[in-house]
Amino acid sequence: PLGGPVLGLESSCDETAAAVLAPDGTILAEAVLSQEKEHAIFGGVVPEIAARAHLAAMPGLAAAVLERAGLGYGDLGAVAATSGPGLIGGLIVGASFGKGVAIARGLPFVAVNQLEAHALTARLPGLLPEGAPAFPYLLLLVSGGHCQCVAVEGLGRYRRLGTTLDDAVGEAFDKAAKLMGLPWPGGPHLERLAVGGNAKAVPLPRPLYGRPGCDFSFSGLKTAVARALTQGARHADVAASFQASVAAVLADRAQHALLMVPDATAVVVAGGVAANGAVRAALAGAAASVGVPMLAPPLRLCTDNAVMVAWAGIERLRAGLTDPMDHNPRPRWPL
Ligand code: KG4
Repeated sequence: PLGGPVLGLESSCDETAAAVLAPDGTILAEAVLSQEKEHAIFGGVVPEIAARAHLAAMPGLAAAVLERAGLGYGDLGAVAATSGPGLIGGLIVGASFGKGVAIARGLPFVAVNQLEAHALTARLPGLLPEGAPAFPYLLLLVSGGHCQCVAVEGLGRYRRLGTTLDDAVGEAFDKAAKLMGLPWPGGPHLERLAVGGNAKAVPLPRPLYGRPGCDFSFSGLKTAVARALTQGARHADVAASFQASVAAVLADRAQHALLMVPDATAVVVAGGVAANGAVRAALAGAAASVGVPMLAPPLRLCTDNAVMVAWAGIERLRAGLTDPMDHNPRPRWPL
């Protein structure tokens, strides 16, 4: 029973985000504040700085989003906040703020698993020109913190098919970029550098390529990049070769995952690495090989954002699922 719009809150890593969605999923207002500048000088996200920045930003951001939607707290029907997985300090800030609003206004509260939110984003009405994919579909989550293949079989029915044995793929991009002296986060810089490089010039490994299952591993690739650079390889060539290896591995792993979900209707890609052109092309190829489309939500909705959190909240509320006020945020929270 959804009595009004849903406020979504996200604070699991280094973006503070808020969004308001109508009960039918229409986006009424959304905003994301990135803390990238505050962390860049440290070459990565500093949890304590992140938590404090979320605390400073969240109340004002939520109020601004509501105002932009022409609403007040009294108009809301429910509150949904990311409650894991992620950095615990930030999760506590967002979840506590959300519970505060819910208690003050007597509203239902939904503790959202961010991985579930990524899994359900493609179902947001009107989002994809191809239409929302039917269950089951394959989700490839490729970000700075995650690298996994998930069979999305229904609401609350997720089967993790494979995950990374070491680094997440975005982390691998960032570490390889750092070795080349590029600024953090290095993924986009590495992609630009790769444009002028020869992907065949530097032989790099393709970890787990062709192996059964769909786990990932990237640490050996990073070591090989370090070695190639020490031996004097051109940075642009190393960047292009690295990107080609990652793209080939992701496509191979996706193809293996599709064998485990033979009735998949689509391959849905989420996470910051979905911005990479070579990665997208490779995954589109893997999807096409079994005759299904590759669907990628617009980038702002496949990195950290609050629209997907509000939408996951709506899906759960429709199924009658809410959470008690003593629900604790979880830094680790597998699907
Ligand atoms: O989903 P996301 O914004 O959040 C985190 O998981 O933190 O993903 C960020 C990651 C970073 O590692 C970043 O370097 C990577 O996505 N990334 C890219 C590109 N754009 C962002 N990696 C490769 N190519 C890109 N164009």
